Amino acid sequence: MRQTVLPSVFARTVRSNTYATLLLIGAALSACTRSSGGAGDSRIPPSGPPTDPAIPERVAAKFPNDWRLPAGQSATFAPQVMAVSNSMDASAAATEIMRAGGNAVDAAVALGFALAVTWPEAGNIGGGGYSVIRMADGRIATIDYREIAPLAATRNMYLDEHGKLTDKSVYGHLASGVPGAVAGLNALLERYGTMPLSRVMQPAIRLARDGFIVDSSLAGSIARAKSMVTRYQKSTPYFPNGEPVPTGTRLVQPDLARTLTAIAEQGTAAFYRGWVADSLVAEMQRGGGIITRADLAGYTPVWRTPIRTSFREYSLLSMPPSSSGGVTTAEALNILEQYPSLPAYGTTRWFHLVGSAYQRAFIDRNAKLADPAFVPVPLAQLTSKSYARQLQGTINDTRATPTQSLEPQMQALPREPEHTTHYSVVDAAGNAVATTTTLNNSWGSGVWVRGAGFMLNDEMDDFAAQPGKPNMFGLVQGEQNAIQPGKRMLSAMSPTIVLDRNNQVLLVVGAAGGPTIITGTSQVILNVIQHRMNLADAMRAPRIHHQALPDSLTFEAGGIAPAVLDSLRNMGHSMRQLRALVNVNAIMRVKGGWEGVPEPRRAGGAVGY
Ligand code: DON
Repeated sequence: MRQTVLPSVFARTVRSNTYATLLLIGAALSACTRSSGGAGDSRIPPSGPPTDPAIPERVAAKFPNDWRLPAGQSATFAPQVMAVSNSMDASAAATEIMRAGGNAVDAAVALGFALAVTWPEAGNIGGGGYSVIRMADGRIATIDYREIAPLAATRNMYLDEHGKLTDKSVYGHLASGVPGAVAGLNALLERYGTMPLSRVMQPAIRLARDGFIVDSSLAGSIARAKSMVTRYQKSTPYFPNGEPVPTGTRLVQPDLARTLTAIAEQGTAAFYRGWVADSLVAEMQRGGGIITRADLAGYTPVWRTPIRTSFREYSLLSMPPSSSGGVTTAEALNILEQYPSLPAYGTTRWFHLVGSAYQRAFIDRNAKLADPAFVPVPLAQLTSKSYARQLQGTINDTRATPTQSLEPQMQALPREPEHTTHYSVVDAAGNAVATTTTLNNSWGSGVWVRGAGFMLNDEMDDFAAQPGKPNMFGLVQGEQNAIQPGKRMLSAMSPTIVLDRNNQVLLVVGAAGGPTIITGTSQVILNVIQHRMNLADAMRAPRIHHQALPDSLTFEAGGIAPAVLDSLRNMGHSMRQLRALVNVNAIMRVKGGWEGVPEPRRAGGAVGY
């Protein structure tokens, strides 16, 4: 039996017999849906210097009586710059770099390396991620530094001799894709930053070398990871003598400090070719992993043209494949945009329509999206307003549609020609970076690289290790996302930048939480744009999730009023309750500056000045 793991926001590991119990966890569009190539030249110039946001007045939010995160709380405000992440120390690393004259890109790279030190369950150099960038002069770009399948990977490498799926795509040395984070952050800095790598890495090196104080959130995460990590390595800085470090400990990571110093001094070569690469390969050989020196030396990040879509009068910039985030978000929002007016937040009809839109978008996601270097991806069709109109036509106003009956309907629609952790940073000029990075599971594969001091990812589980069978997030994916050497596994990460009607940055947002990333990120966007909530309310509002299969509408405990819950059940929705959905970190432009809100369901810090 495979062990199944909830996204880190849920902060616990469960065993389950069935993946179904596990689900946790316009025409204006697609002008720019090339999936790869020389992105970076595209621009959406603002219509003038940074101004207050061009958005309607905010409206007070109202949540159900039993909901545990009351509306009306305030956000962190700063007039010039803001950084929001799951670690206060890492957010402070970003503002330290901006105070020293760096721009939002310098600061985001500093934050990314600092998170590898202070949020080791997900911040990483042993995993990968994506960044969406919008520079104040209008330049837009995305960079894909997703892990890739090692050259020795094979389609059925996670099946046992009886053809049954094992847990080796989730735990241990075989679970890791070739890490992309170091190459990606460096490439981002080289193209859009102003400072050298050695400068922006200083806060991270200091935090690893001199230590930082473990708060209760990190201490809890470390304690929960004990069996997973100590199974492969008895003594790490997180488990000295095999026991988890308690709250209040100064956590010093000398091996990681050495690794970061080598990267700062020698650049990416230190990680992909030097002694760090040797340590990683030695770790692989110790535990039966397959990443080789050739895999590391061959890793390259890819600049990609952003998915550009619109919702009402707002523009969204998000991540194209190899992430499914931008396409699936665009498809769901396009379906909802077909309704001239949408129901009020919290009503039966609101949850029904939003859940139904996600269900349809995920049917396409699960069947059609994958690494565009390996399979053709119908981006223009999936993100077009006319396709969304057809999908909206399949939504019954009063009944849930079973996914099984919807799949054939959607396949029959006329086709157009083919053609975990998030951080947000903005600076005083209006440059903005949205980055989501992950080891996949909390604490990745559980494997810590001896001598080099970092955790390795278990990203191979994001492939369809057995097409048609659920992965650890319960996602049922198709042949297009099967394992192939050198291929990027499909992601749900959705770093997103929303522009107002003057093309000024309005929101910088993204999330951790596997497939719930897409639904959680887009609900914060909907709450701001559609329901006119302020950012604090938009983040605290109860969330829902639908990913087509399992065919259920997941909601947060206390987040839907009992009468609404009954109505949704009567409409045929299979309702699943979880304590918390998704770990979002967001920044919003407001009058006179920025508001930052870290995930209220988890830990984090918004730091600005
Ligand atoms: O790329 C993806 O979609 C997943 N590896 C993300 C995993 C995740 O968000 C886990 N965290 N909470």
